[in-house]
Amino acid sequence: MQAIELLLKRTSYNQLVEPAPNGDVLANILQAGCCVPDHGGLTPWRFIVFKAQALVDLGEIYAEAAEQDGADCEKIEKAKNMPLRAPMVIAVIANIDENNKIPASEQLIAAGCAAHSIQMAAVAQGFQGIWRTGVFAYHPHIKQQLKLTAQEQIVGYIYLGTAKGDVPAKSRKNYQNFVQYW
Ligand SMILES: Cc1cc2nc3c(=O)[nH]c(=O)nc-3n(C[C@H](O)[C@H](O)[C@H](O)COP(=O)(O)O)c2cc1C
Repeated sequence: MQAIELLLKRTSYNQLVEPAPNGDVLANILQAGCCVPDHGGLTPWRFIVFKAQALVDLGEIYAEAAEQDGADCEKIEKAKNMPLRAPMVIAVIANIDENNKIPASEQLIAAGCAAHSIQMAAVAQGFQGIWRTGVFAYHPHIKQQLKLTAQEQIVGYIYLGTAKGDVPAKSRKNYQNFVQYW
């Protein structure tokens, strides 16, 4: 796939089945996440890869968080199954140093770039994915269970796998509506 095609046809896809990226392909994906613009070279990100039993474990943690929030049985069960919507989930975690001369917003953007590159590196190698957050990206119980430090936050969960069916082409916003030439 040409780089320009990847960018212009970029899309998310949520019907994800086995196989998940593995071996050198997964290594490329994780490496791509480390090749993003990074003001000051702070490397303000890290990744946690979940697959197989780890997805079940993550679901349990989601369910505990939902229970803490007073969710009913149906919602707890739904939370438990969320990470099982793909054969792999990569949590992208930003490590924000508020005291650094590089603004916190720039550090968060760099981690966001890592998340996007992870998704795109998967697509470039024949896989598909979707970036998700939701309440379980911000829940204190999840942060505690995933052992995030006080200055870390979850930027997203990148769900990855093989497309179950055809990936539909998207209609696009016309760039001319968003550009002015000074
Ligand atoms: C920071 C961030 C968080 C997101 N969280 C969710 C989410 O929790 N659930 C969801 O369905 N889509 C979420 N999305 C949007 C999807 O990743 C996706 O971009 C959207 O469905 C539009 O599809 P497209 O990427 O094909 O244009 C999020 C996107 C970003 C950038």
